[in-house]
Amino acid sequence: MHITVCLTDLKPDAWVSGLQHEFPEAHVSVWQPGAPPADHAVVWSPPQRMLDEQPGLRGLFNIGAGVDALLKLRMPLHTRIVRVEDAGMAVQMAEYVCHALIRHFREFDAYEVDARQGSWGYRAPRLRSQFPVGVMGLGVLGERVAKAVAQFDFPVNGWSRSPKDIAGIRSFAGHQSLDAFLAESRVLVCLLPVTPDTRGILRRETLTKLNGGAPGGYVINVARGAHLVEADLIPLLDAGQLDGATLDVFETEPLPADHPFWRHPKITVTPHASARTLREESIAQIVSKIRAVEGGAGFDGMAGVVDLERGY
Ligand code: NAP
Ligand code: GLV
Repeated sequence: MHITVCLTDLKPDAWVSGLQHEFPEAHVSVWQPGAPPADHAVVWSPPQRMLDEQPGLRGLFNIGAGVDALLKLRMPLHTRIVRVEDAGMAVQMAEYVCHALIRHFREFDAYEVDARQGSWGYRAPRLRSQFPVGVMGLGVLGERVAKAVAQFDFPVNGWSRSPKDIAGIRSFAGHQSLDAFLAESRVLVCLLPVTPDTRGILRRETLTKLNGGAPGGYVINVARGAHLVEADLIPLLDAGQLDGATLDVFETEPLPADHPFWRHPKITVTPHASARTLREESIAQIVSKIRAVEGGAGFDGMAGVVDLERGY
């Protein structure tokens, strides 16, 4: 068996040695142009050339949850795409979203300003019943986030393609329920994959429906920059329609130094760091899947296999 590793902009050595350790009999190497044919590839944002030169790949194992970069490429006919599912990302995402939500809800930024001025000032307690949280995407990450938020007694709504039955989460499904979901939510968390249906879904028209159309909405985008129409956000913040946003992902990454999001007082920026791929957990997951394929189980029924029709 030959496994090729192609992690654009990431250091591949520890991945190669981790995979080699698990498959001592296999040939594991870093992909380079002209590399010999491989059975499986472990990738992050590979170039088209790699796929063009590897028409016999059986499995393309993506070391992230999102496969939007891969789906822009021409795939070899019989290659199956498998993404990493959770592998330590869900708990990170839950931490990140709960932190952003609670920081906003409990006005910790304002306390921080007070503290720097030596000012001992209380703020009126807010009612969490007035801060319903809407989680867009109730997949591996969204479900974990929704449950974590519900643990803090916030009302939680979830929006997905198919209806869900998750204790404590009110399920909204499909495009026809989007307006009701938005109207019933005040803090909006995006954990959707980027597909033709979800690209640009965070835009003026949808964001103004939050909180029943009243001011006070808050946006947490931890999915992809392509979900947000960036030009729509600052006018909504400046007009007071939205109270703020925490953004981890951007149309252009790294976020350009002169981008207004960096300096806007109501926007918190983090550098696509909400849920990092954890190497050991991810290698363990990929290894068990390659073993299953090589053992004859194939890809049918395997968790994380991407449905090309759905786009995620
Ligand atoms: P997932 O398990 O595939 O879940 C996707 C969810 O989105 C599902 O609940 C799905 O509905 C829903 N969905 C898809 N299209 C929809 C549509 N048109 N309308 C309504 N709901 C729709 O994905 P995941 O593992 O949770 O990851 C989600 C995304 O997070 C990834 O695609 C990636 O872009 C992003 N991500 C970001 C970071 C970061 O560091 N910022 C890290 C990891 C992942 P069904 O359940 O009905 O199919
Ligand atoms: C990171 O953004 C991922 O998709 O895993």
